[in-house]
Amino acid sequence: MKRRIGILTSGGDCPGLNATIRGVSKALYQRMGDSVEIVGILNGYSGLINGDYREMKPTDFKGILTLGGTILGTKRTPYKLMRVVGDDQLDKVAAMKKTYKAAKLDCLLCLGGNGTHKTANLLSQEGLNIIGLPKTIDNDIYGTDVTFGFHTAVDIATEVIDRIHTTAGSHSRVMCIEIMGNKAGWLTLYSGIAGGADIILLPELPYSIDRVCAAVEKRAANGSNFSILAVAEGAMDCEEARQKRKDWMAKRMEAGTGATATNRIAAQIEQCTGAETRVCIPGHMQRGGSPSAYDRVLATQFGSYAAKLVEAEHYGVTVAMVNNHVTENRLADVAGKARNVPESCDLLAVARRMGISLG
Ligand code: F6P
Repeated sequence: MKRRIGILTSGGDCPGLNATIRGVSKALYQRMGDSVEIVGILNGYSGLINGDYREMKPTDFKGILTLGGTILGTKRTPYKLMRVVGDDQLDKVAAMKKTYKAAKLDCLLCLGGNGTHKTANLLSQEGLNIIGLPKTIDNDIYGTDVTFGFHTAVDIATEVIDRIHTTAGSHSRVMCIEIMGNKAGWLTLYSGIAGGADIILLPELPYSIDRVCAAVEKRAANGSNFSILAVAEGAMDCEEARQKRKDWMAKRMEAGTGATATNRIAAQIEQCTGAETRVCIPGHMQRGGSPSAYDRVLATQFGSYAAKLVEAEHYGVTVAMVNNHVTENRLADVAGKARNVPESCDLLAVARRMGISLG
């Protein structure tokens, strides 16, 4: 009997999605031969809601190991709206179940981050056969030591910091580089250390601008003619940390400094230290292009493991890496949780030992 396997990519894209899709499909064809049919759901849960899907052929998965983005397309379809009936009167959960049935799926693989996993768990609780695969450059999925996409983004952000170093040195400037990561600071911490940043500011560790300026001045006093800051998108100061997110966001917008703290920090440094300061925002470049060798290997490990789960009809789980071992966690144990940089993180201790200011 034929087994029909659905696959979708949801949320922000990242390098390694296609490599994972290829890992799943190649291993499925390898293990199950002609008895498997793969159905690509287009643009994430939006495609599942709207019935947008297509039958995939083995040739669709050829040559995609190194390809950035996702051949299936993706979209953010917020979990919190899944149960909300909008103007279109559409019951999204019922619509997703209807598409699953219409496409005659035996199971559905959902590649994505935290939001994707919440909806995957919802669908699993609704009785669908679901397997998750952990993707995100933020590396913040609970229960896995690493997500695919993260290390490629670390490489890209590190290259940005490297390149900024030379121009910072030539111009004797302070450079504030904004690294992606709204809630989790893993990408900023890793690339900040890899790129030799002098000051690293994370969402998990609210900063004091006085401490940041003091760190810049200390470097100048010690003879350094430039300073490099790696600032996470979601960095906030100690005062903001005591307020509700929507309140401090509104204040930032009112002040005209933008949604993130980076521009404000740069202006404050210039004012307080007199050092010429510039901002660099690599933004979505951190999610673009070909996956690194590390991510290609990880994607292939995760994808082929998911194929094994399909074959064993083991559903309601998501693939994970725990202590260098590929395994799975129950979706119900992962959904709704996140993995942030803990105070006990070894790399924070390393940063402090190296004299890096954490603000
Ligand atoms: O979750 C990945 C991520 O790149 C975050 O680091 C960033 O805050 C967010 O997505 C940006 O989202 P969007 O692509 O919707 O602008």
